[in-house]
Amino acid sequence: MDIALETEALDVRYGQIQAVRSINLVVPKACITALLGANGAGKTSTVMAIAGVVPNVSGKVSIFGQDMTGATPDTIIRAGVAITPEGRRIFASLSVEENLILAGAATTKSTTSAERRAMMMERFPILGERRRQLAGLLSGGEQQMLAVARALMSGPRLILMDEPSLGLAPQMVDTMFAIIEELRAEGISILLVEQNASLALEIADHAVVLANGKVAAAGTPSEIVGQDILKSAYLAA
Ligand SMILES: Nc1ncnc2c1ncn2[C@@H]1O[C@H](COP(=O)(O)OP(=O)(O)O)[C@@H](O)[C@H]1O
Ligand SMILES: [Mg+2]
Repeated sequence: MDIALETEALDVRYGQIQAVRSINLVVPKACITALLGANGAGKTSTVMAIAGVVPNVSGKVSIFGQDMTGATPDTIIRAGVAITPEGRRIFASLSVEENLILAGAATTKSTTSAERRAMMMERFPILGERRRQLAGLLSGGEQQMLAVARALMSGPRLILMDEPSLGLAPQMVDTMFAIIEELRAEGISILLVEQNASLALEIADHAVVLANGKVAAAGTPSEIVGQDILKSAYLAA
């Protein structure tokens, strides 16, 4: 199995609080790996630790076979990793285009930032139409599309998506999941954090369930779906 991302005994601490406990995670290449679990289970902390953003981390992280333990966010971006953060974190008071320009500063590909912006506007025509509009005026779904476009600006091979469907209208949730499946079809590896477990399990190739900062279950969606461990992981918080 070709592996995009692997963590070994990953721990994350915030002072006295241990948010993530010895997590071993494997994200195969060109697959969707769902990371599931209740609020507070440690999903965002895991993602942020992989992205090199959280400081109090121990354990090992390797990305496309390279040891990235303790690497800076910058190095991790250059290794081909992008993130769509929880809550989208776009710049509401900047235009759509300015949001893409800022994301393009981290571009790793031979294409220029302007070329990649043009590609994003072609890929997501609504962003092209609204390029001069303030990002804060977009709908939730359009803002999430912008967050995905920002992530794609660096030409990533692995995307960490933290709750991309949160707060979206049902139709936009379907659109967003279709986009995630398209990215996989293009060969991009995806770690998909979702509260909506049943939906995530519909498109995922593999799933990992966290409870109280630990891996409670891992396997294929058919191995996980309907299991008590999934239900109890969600009831735990
Ligand atoms: N910056 C922080 N400082 C202190 N505790 C935090 C911080 N971020 C998260 N936590 C705690 O870590 C645990 C895991 O949180 P988080 O990773 O956000 O979970 P999830 O994304 O699964 O909801 C929770 O108990 C949460 O309160
Ligand atoms: Mg979270």
